[in-house]
Amino acid sequence: MRLSQDVMDGPLPTTSGASLSGGAMIAATLPAPSALAARWRLDKNLVFLNFGSYGGCPDEVLAAHDEYRARVERDPVRFFKVDLERLLDGVREKVAPFVGCRPQDVAPIRNATIALATIFFATHFRPGDEVVTNNHEYSSGTNELTRMASRTGLRVVTAEVPFPISDPGEAVDAIIGAITPRTRLVVMSHVTSCTSLVMPVERVIAECQRRGIDILIDGAHAPGQVDLNIARLNPTYYVGSFHKWMCAPKGTGFLWVRPDRQAAVRSAMLSSRASKVRDDRALFLRDFDYMGTDDYTGMLCVPYAIDAMAKMIPGGWEEIRRRNRALVLEAREAVCGMAGLRPGCPDSMVGSMVSLSLPEADASLSGRATAYDDPLQDALLEKHRVQVPIWRLGEGTAENPGVRIIRLSAQLYNSIEQYRYLGEALVKELNSERALKQTG
Ligand SMILES: Cc1ncc(COP(=O)(O)O)c(C=O)c1O
Repeated sequence: MRLSQDVMDGPLPTTSGASLSGGAMIAATLPAPSALAARWRLDKNLVFLNFGSYGGCPDEVLAAHDEYRARVERDPVRFFKVDLERLLDGVREKVAPFVGCRPQDVAPIRNATIALATIFFATHFRPGDEVVTNNHEYSSGTNELTRMASRTGLRVVTAEVPFPISDPGEAVDAIIGAITPRTRLVVMSHVTSCTSLVMPVERVIAECQRRGIDILIDGAHAPGQVDLNIARLNPTYYVGSFHKWMCAPKGTGFLWVRPDRQAAVRSAMLSSRASKVRDDRALFLRDFDYMGTDDYTGMLCVPYAIDAMAKMIPGGWEEIRRRNRALVLEAREAVCGMAGLRPGCPDSMVGSMVSLSLPEADASLSGRATAYDDPLQDALLEKHRVQVPIWRLGEGTAENPGVRIIRLSAQLYNSIEQYRYLGEALVKELNSERALKQTG
């Protein structure tokens, strides 16, 4: 049975109860994206400014994905038992130069969340061991660490990196300053999620190497956004995503482990193949190349994503990174100017995203409903058709109020007019929050 388009699209839930199934007439009133938007399948009735959360696949990558799925169904037994390993070796050959490592050191894994947990599970923490994270880390990693702490007695030490930040050295000082003789592992993002900071990972890695402390870099946002060379950085572990800034299908991440540690890093769940005796292939690859029946076809499309994007504009990936960065810096200037906001970091910490601190809504408005993290996001979407994340660095509690943040992403399909439109919408919505406070 084929699902009708209505069922597949569904009525979008809104906090106001209104329907978001807009129709073509809305698109005409919205600012146009760039001409390259034709290569993606985004909703034309949206001003889509959040590439960072889930990436996005150009059409030709989706087409390759369909072909691979059809191939699996033609003979699943051959696909899983014979073809898969060889195909994944091909993927490795292509991604290794892109992320700067040897093919045999990179393992496919569904996403950064699983990759982070895999490293935590592979580390035999003892009571009193300390893991240094910081207040900008993504919650999937810190949630797993908190659970580990309750099971093993490890202590999670959270370094406080300021935001806004005026110099990358402030991040280095905060993280290195949290290391003690009990530190077993340092975990830090290459590009932070909520605050979009390109972190000075090379300086922290060098310091950890000097002190003989393991370091795990969470690079979920890095490949495709920054020029990456993992082997040159040489941390102990590096996890990343292909499905964000490399534009591959969803559910494609990777795990890089320094060669001397690979034998000790097993997958969190062992597959039916784990006990097979084989001397033709490293255990590291066997473990991660097959983790049970699953859809591995997205991973097989990563090379297509690398090529599709490289060919999209003259200058390839280098030019993509340059253009996205230039656009997001221009967008930051426009939005800051219109809404009276200030940049959250120096230009040297900007990749393809920027985050800005927003004024807080009055406490009397705290009960407002949201389908996201902040009702302002709902308002921007429902009233202005802008999809942009508003969230918080910190917990929003009395002890840890944190900072309310808007994050802008720039991808080839965006245009500067879209951010100016956001600026206008943001001013209106911040003003209406103030008005509600005054009358409320
Ligand atoms: C820094 C960082 N780490 C980890 C993750 C988790 O990635 P995934 O959802 O692909 O597992 C994200 C997601 O946005 C992230 O921004």
